[in-house]
Amino acid sequence: MARQSSLFVCQSCGSPQTKWVGRCPACETWNSLVEETHDSSPLTRSKKASKRTALPTEDLQSSTLSPPRFQCTLSEFDRVCGGGLVQGSVILIGGDPGVGKSTLLLQVAALLSKKHPTLYVSGEEAIDQVRLRAHRLGLKDTPLKLLSSTHIHDIITTVEQKETSYKLAIIDSIQTMYSDAIDAAPGTVSQVRLCCQELMHLAKTKGIIIVLIGHVTKEGTLAGPRVLEHMVDAVLYFEGEKGHSYRILRATKNRFGPTDEIGVFEMRTEGLQQVCNPSGFFLSERQGMMSGSAVFAGMEGTRPLLIEIQALVSPASFGTPRRAVIGWDSGRLAMILAVLETRCGLNFGTKDVYLNVAGGLKISEPAADLAVAAALMSSLTGVTLPGDAIFYGEISLTGEIRSVSNGEGRQKEAQKLGFKHAFTPREKSSALFEPERFKSESFSFLRDFVSYFHTHDTKGARYA
Ligand code: TYD
Ligand code: MG
Repeated sequence: MARQSSLFVCQSCGSPQTKWVGRCPACETWNSLVEETHDSSPLTRSKKASKRTALPTEDLQSSTLSPPRFQCTLSEFDRVCGGGLVQGSVILIGGDPGVGKSTLLLQVAALLSKKHPTLYVSGEEAIDQVRLRAHRLGLKDTPLKLLSSTHIHDIITTVEQKETSYKLAIIDSIQTMYSDAIDAAPGTVSQVRLCCQELMHLAKTKGIIIVLIGHVTKEGTLAGPRVLEHMVDAVLYFEGEKGHSYRILRATKNRFGPTDEIGVFEMRTEGLQQVCNPSGFFLSERQGMMSGSAVFAGMEGTRPLLIEIQALVSPASFGTPRRAVIGWDSGRLAMILAVLETRCGLNFGTKDVYLNVAGGLKISEPAADLAVAAALMSSLTGVTLPGDAIFYGEISLTGEIRSVSNGEGRQKEAQKLGFKHAFTPREKSSALFEPERFKSESFSFLRDFVSYFHTHDTKGARYA
């Protein structure tokens, strides 16, 4: 009989401890250790039993073509996967409960099932519930197969069947799956990891695409899919803000494509709709010229995205002025305020400062610095920024405006949406995009940018 051993495994990072402690020494999460009993795992057993053999190696050069990619008609999803799902790959889709992972994958699975045999395995919902949802999403006429089970070996046997020849299987969710090879509850790190290993083996040996859905919880009661991130081929996160209907699919790891692409979707009553013009979508509620509002031309992967940045500077009512930021880094806001004070002579010392990225988006690009500075300056001084202008540029501590990548792409997107001006860093190369009826004003220093707005009447003829 296999020897039983007991370990305390952190449910947040997966590190094992021999005895219980209140705080995981590896990731410093409190109260995350759970006792797990292990038989000697099948992997260790087989290692002990097998004798060592030399394995054949292969040349790097080969005449075989790269594995095929499977595309569904949701181009936003295909783009994030790097141009479609690669045969034999394992993809993990993480996200908060209720964000729409099951809905997205049901739609993707149904669309793909028209071309390839596809199985949707739900460990959370009964078949009827999945069917009802598919009907609501208008997918009832697709040849998608459904299965409701949580036993990983049954699922693998079902997928492996020769006669069905499944090319794609969705596992919703990996936290509900269990293998009876170990004596741990579903959702614990050991179960999640073992089930993932078994499914990976299936994907690599049979060339089946496996998409795993994983929940991320802040409390760490369910094993976070983070322990799986290094095992799988691609990790996508499905994000969305409460109270907003848009959802963003973002790749954080992809062995077969870039990781900086995003896909934008809108959650409607009839399911997720892809948003092919995200700039227009995020700017749709903007009301033209208002002080404290600047449009930032950002890049998400290879795609430009126009986003409104709003600032409000108001007199502080109590001793220490407040600085509140939504959608941007608060450290970076402090830096921009310091540069505006020290290098440009503006004074925010006695003011509360609020900064908001409209639409609930989060920006991490330093290229947003100039748009943030413009919005702050506009709210402080009451100068209205032109409503048809975009801003981008990175600001250094010395007060310089540094150039950023893909200025041309940003300006082209702006022009496409009817913008007429761009405020940009001074580019070194002379070949700057300068299309007709689109004017770009470039600056080397932030103080020149600030004084430009003080000397130009932005409400006047210049921008009319
Ligand atoms: P779901 O896909 O079940 O989330 P997850 O699998 O990530 O937990 O989505 C649940 C939410 O989506 C639910 O709150 C309702 C909303 N929703 C819609 O708004 N429209 C729809 O057509 C569907 C199916 C869900
Ligand atoms: Mg779900």
